[in-house]
Amino acid sequence: MNFKELSIQCRTYRRFSQKPVDPAILQELMENVRIVSSAMNGQVLRYVLVKDPALVKKLQPAIHWAAALPKELGTPKEGEQPTAFILVCKEGRGNPWDDIDAGIAVRNIALNACAYGIGSAILGAVEWNRVKDILSVPENWNPRLLMALGYPSCESHIVDVPESGSIKYFLDENKNYCVPKRALKDICLVK
Ligand SMILES: Cc1cc2nc3c(=O)[nH]c(=O)nc-3n(C[C@H](O)[C@H](O)[C@H](O)COP(=O)(O)O)c2cc1C
Repeated sequence: MNFKELSIQCRTYRRFSQKPVDPAILQELMENVRIVSSAMNGQVLRYVLVKDPALVKKLQPAIHWAAALPKELGTPKEGEQPTAFILVCKEGRGNPWDDIDAGIAVRNIALNACAYGIGSAILGAVEWNRVKDILSVPENWNPRLLMALGYPSCESHIVDVPESGSIKYFLDENKNYCVPKRALKDICLVK
């Protein structure tokens, strides 16, 4: 896959086959995110890689999926749920740039996973206290984002923004995701 293909393919996935992700790939994701750019090289992010099936199962109810869709369509059912997670935390009070570091980190993980055909979802609407409790996260690690991972069992396609201007993602007749993206001319000035 070249970078353009990877950028098109690297979408949010919310339904997964139950084939586990190879632990060696999960390890690689962590090795590669370890060395991403970080403001002031501060490296305030901390991670919890969750691959134990019992813990993966326990985390599922703490996630709020797909705010744009009715719950029965957007929330993965049993047999469709992600098979691994990476929790991204900031240690202590962090620094003024830590959310930007977190964004860089999750995108790195998502692209790296996608290169192996593994789908992901960056999740912010998560009940962090439940997650901290389930995973026994150290007290001074503050969860910021959760990455869901697994082999996708649905597709996701980029579509043009319709006449109405709505940027709400939706499901097509095959329950595949359609994600409207604004045209470049509408978001980028060239000088
Ligand atoms: C910071 C951030 C937080 C997100 N939180 C959630 C979430 O809590 N639940 C969810 O289902 N999707 C979440 N998403 C996924 C977005 O809904 C998704 O990126 C958007 O619909 C565009 O789809 P795409 O990633 O395929 O381009 C989040 C994405 C980002 C970048």
